[in-house]
Amino acid sequence: MDLDAFAWLLTDEGQRLLARATEMTAAADPGKDASLAVQTALRKDETAAHVAAAMTQVDLRRKAGAKFGDLAPKMYFTPDGLEQATRLAVAHHRAARLRAFDATSVIDLGCGIGGDLIASSRAGLTAAGVDNDPERVAVAQANLDALGLAGAVTVADATAVDHSPFDIAYADPARRGAKGRVFSAEGWTPPWSWVETLFARDACVKVAPGIPHDLVPDQVEAEWVSDRGEVKEAALWSGSLASTRRRATVIGERGLATLTSEDDPGGEVDSVEEFLYEPDGAVIRAGLVTAVAAGVQGHLIDEHIAYVTSTASFETPFARGYQVVEELPYREKQLKAALRERGIGKLTIKKRGVQIVPEQLRKRLALSGDEEGTIVLTRVAGEGTCLLVRPF
Ligand SMILES: C[S@@+](CC[C@H](N)C(=O)[O-])C[C@H]1O[C@@H](n2cnc3c(N)ncnc32)[C@H](O)[C@@H]1O
Repeated sequence: MDLDAFAWLLTDEGQRLLARATEMTAAADPGKDASLAVQTALRKDETAAHVAAAMTQVDLRRKAGAKFGDLAPKMYFTPDGLEQATRLAVAHHRAARLRAFDATSVIDLGCGIGGDLIASSRAGLTAAGVDNDPERVAVAQANLDALGLAGAVTVADATAVDHSPFDIAYADPARRGAKGRVFSAEGWTPPWSWVETLFARDACVKVAPGIPHDLVPDQVEAEWVSDRGEVKEAALWSGSLASTRRRATVIGERGLATLTSEDDPGGEVDSVEEFLYEPDGAVIRAGLVTAVAAGVQGHLIDEHIAYVTSTASFETPFARGYQVVEELPYREKQLKAALRERGIGKLTIKKRGVQIVPEQLRKRLALSGDEEGTIVLTRVAGEGTCLLVRPF
């Protein structure tokens, strides 16, 4: 990113170019390479660097809609900064939790383009951010300004900053290096050994959802968060912010729901009943499938498989529910015959704990028929089992 061109983009003249680039892109023929045509037109009056800066933001704002919704058209991004940014719904949940602990100030140690910082500021926290990347600092500050939010951002090494004046230290270490995703926590920037030093105080650290449970120190709460059915992250909460060992937070269209280790009485395994529940990914990652079973007055169908069954039908934010219609043959030839007999041509295949690739199986089954159906392929008491189910 050209920092001078970005600084120019924030001037009145730059804003006029950005508005023009946005309007022209929206009005361009989507069948053609709109971006190239608009760039060529704008280049008649502007320098290549200014046009490139404007067009980059037009393109990134469009991509950012999925994470930042209505705020995206007012914000600024870098490609990597957008990719690494926390989506607004998740960042708002975190900021609301911080507010609920009576925190008034937070320092974001590695704030990137400001995904979390914006949410903290919107929640009314005094928010300061540092990042060692000057481009991201410029973009984060531009975002606070563009959204009319209070807050300050500085270029600094997060590991050398005195965070003690702030109620909360927040960090979201980069888990991507030049060669792609970094799987070892010590390879994060800043690394896990620094993250651990934060746990001596009130802190929150965003980590990968795949974080091994045994890496989470005692006294630290691990929270897995999903947004509209997809697990987005885990967050580790220390000091007075830790209120349980493990938590699953599910953000959905109808709001937010949370389940903790305290809700988990442990579970039994028993036969398949009339209703089957497929727990949300955050629940599974948090190891709270048996808490879902307790919530629907049910049990597991297999000790190692994340399906729950019950005689009762419940609406729960923590799982998708299905009515079990009947058991079908697990063997492919007999299954094909059974599905044909029922006229099922459009088949949804759910699977857990079995080595089946749904797309390949669907192809081999070569179904035709007007009916729609959903099957669940799994193990029950160690045996491969196929259940014909109907979503609630
Ligand atoms: C995953 S991103 C943060 C994204 C941010 N939470 C958001 O929602 O936009 C991690 C950031 O940490 C920064 N970073 C890595 N090591 C750092 C260090 N030692 N000091 C300051 N910033 C650092 C990177 O430049 C990057 O912007």
